[in-house]
Amino acid sequence: MRSIIPDYLTDALGDVEPDVSGELAAYIPELAGADPDRLGAVFATLDGRIYGAGDIDHEFTIQSISKPFTYALALADRGFYPVLDKVGVEPSGEAFNQISLEQGTGRPLNPMINAGAITAHSLAGPQGLDPAGRVERVIDGLSAFAGRRLAVDEAVCASEMADAHRNLAIAHMLRSYDILTEDPTAVVEGYVRQCSVLVSARDLAVMAATLANGGVNPLSGEQVVHQPVVRQVLSVMATCGMYDAAGDWATHVGIPAKSGVAGGLIGALPGQIGIATFSPRLDAHGNSVRGVSLFEQFSSDAGLHVM
Ligand code: DON
Repeated sequence: MRSIIPDYLTDALGDVEPDVSGELAAYIPELAGADPDRLGAVFATLDGRIYGAGDIDHEFTIQSISKPFTYALALADRGFYPVLDKVGVEPSGEAFNQISLEQGTGRPLNPMINAGAITAHSLAGPQGLDPAGRVERVIDGLSAFAGRRLAVDEAVCASEMADAHRNLAIAHMLRSYDILTEDPTAVVEGYVRQCSVLVSARDLAVMAATLANGGVNPLSGEQVVHQPVVRQVLSVMATCGMYDAAGDWATHVGIPAKSGVAGGLIGALPGQIGIATFSPRLDAHGNSVRGVSLFEQFSSDAGLHVM
């Protein structure tokens, strides 16, 4: 087993490597300078084994892959109903940066799109925590999922914040509906910091494996969140994690997943495995082109489709 899986992964990377289609996420200027050719894939098993090939220790920013984990922290810290009151669980069928608020209430449709993720960030930690304490809670929580202390890429954070007009506009809309009840700029600053946390494909596979393992980190043994929280998070990843490509993903790959605009992609199969890929060029939905191909291959080769 130790030798077969890395050989399989190396072959899989070789299959997708020639595909140089897609674009870097230029709307965050610092991400436009990434090396587009990086490529890596990691399997993390629930008994703590890591199998990888390619760029598995290169660090990049987590971006939207932080969203399911911060949603988990909000559910754990505030409880299900207070969170559901502010963020729904319905697929939006729209791009990640669309406004996508429920008619009348202004409640974001789900926590995977930016509107819902900004709201979920505001709900991490106990009520009344100041913005700095909340960021600390989020970084501590993401680190617990990864099983090591994670840091923030300050250059990416400043670069996104300098041009965050769309997220600021969304946050002001949320404030107007009282979905956010504090200064929208401070919430977006915290959310952007959350998105700027540095991870490797290895870290992401462990984070995914923690979800697959009912909330227990397979490396540290820590129960990061409880099983009911994991069930909620994986359900939302399954229906909304790939944005307006969620239906295509469900039929072709069938693994609860989440993508990020720096090129990361995770999949978590309950009771089985955590998977992560890294390749920075993105398709029109903001999902990694070669990452999607790798997951299609993994799903079909190993029969991982949940249906
Ligand atoms: O808020 C944003 O636009 C980015 N910080 C994260 C977006 C993202 O990763 C979308 N996913 N593919």
